[in-house]
Amino acid sequence: MTAAPQAGAASARACSLAGRHVVLGVTGSIAAYKAAELLRMLTRNGAEAQPVMTQGATHFLGPLTLATLAGRETFVEMFARDDADIRHIALARWADIAVVAPATADFLGKYRSGIVDDVLLNLLLALPSQRVPVVVAPAMNDEMFAHPAVQENLETLARRGVFVVPPEHGELACKTIGPGRLADLARIVQHCERALCAASSAADFRGRRVVVTAGPTRQYLDPVRFLSNPSTGRMGAAVARAAWTRGADVSVVAGPMDRALLPADVATVFVESVQDMLEAVRAAMSADAMLVMTAAVGDFAPPRAPEKIKKTGQVRTLELLPTPDILTAVRAQHPRATLAGFAAETSDVCARAREKLVRKKLDVIVGNRVGVADSGFAGPTTDAVLIDRTGWEQDVGAVEKTALAHLILDRLRELAP
Ligand code: C5P
Repeated sequence: MTAAPQAGAASARACSLAGRHVVLGVTGSIAAYKAAELLRMLTRNGAEAQPVMTQGATHFLGPLTLATLAGRETFVEMFARDDADIRHIALARWADIAVVAPATADFLGKYRSGIVDDVLLNLLLALPSQRVPVVVAPAMNDEMFAHPAVQENLETLARRGVFVVPPEHGELACKTIGPGRLADLARIVQHCERALCAASSAADFRGRRVVVTAGPTRQYLDPVRFLSNPSTGRMGAAVARAAWTRGADVSVVAGPMDRALLPADVATVFVESVQDMLEAVRAAMSADAMLVMTAAVGDFAPPRAPEKIKKTGQVRTLELLPTPDILTAVRAQHPRATLAGFAAETSDVCARAREKLVRKKLDVIVGNRVGVADSGFAGPTTDAVLIDRTGWEQDVGAVEKTALAHLILDRLRELAP
């Protein structure tokens, strides 16, 4: 058996904000106030953030707010008298990534044209473009956003490799409703991780299709009652996010779970029953796709009564029928697909996982120790062993679900045709 790796595979580290130097550029939109929360999210993810504001931004947010949260001076002035270094060059060398949120129409026009009349624009042009990705999150009035000048600027920037996080549809500061609202902050953070990944060699899933199932299923007894389990979908969300971050074309098929756990830009189909999950997975799969079945699929289903079953005070016996096995069905249809399943076990984890791997003709199986501390449903960590069809095994031990997700993807990539 291979020795347990350090918590977090190389790919997990390459795609993470932990320990990264982030330049947070803030320009003069009313959404500038949201930059304070974004900065906190970046630092909560382990990044060190350097705030840089345009003069316009300072009308909406005090530089001291960002400086206090970052623990570093906010740069606004291009030419500071007490600077020993050339400020924008020193910052450009320090940065691992730059994110401009909110990005105004004015800023985008200047950045596209190479006009550098403030410290933020100077520093962006001084970045070593091969190594340091730039993410921009526009925010403005909907008519301004739709203007061909803004659209052409964004297209040009995207063509040059800038990562654009499109604004969202919603209520704008000018009281209209339309596209122009700064993207959800969690989404901006996800795009930063994806940009970091793309700038390293870890974006190894580009051009690959990955289908992930997540959460529990529900088998209804009647219109108002169902059998289910406590799965929260965290493991599936971690796999979907890791695959998306590494550049995959990801589809999620999710049972009832908190939508906010899932990466915002991943196509998701919500289902309830095993049969619906099977159909959604079939629709999402292709011959050479990868499937990671993290969903806690119900093994039995009662026949569904059309009307609510009445309380009689008498003992009722529930007849339970077996549900279709999704992994087995997918394997029968797609012999070339690369499939990963999970085996949650309270004892004999390795032996039972191995048996399941063979029986379901899987490429990878994740044996999950359940019933021990810090493992299984709901929490951020799990205790796992990875086994593949070649006989390779790795006892991962207790590990963050994000790190485990990357390890599963590493293995799938290794085995995929
Ligand atoms: O057979 P068992 O339910 O223990 O196998 C667990 C693995 O099989 C998980 O990956 C689960 O998502 C998948 N599964 C399935 N279809 C079912 C039940 C489980 O694909 N009906």
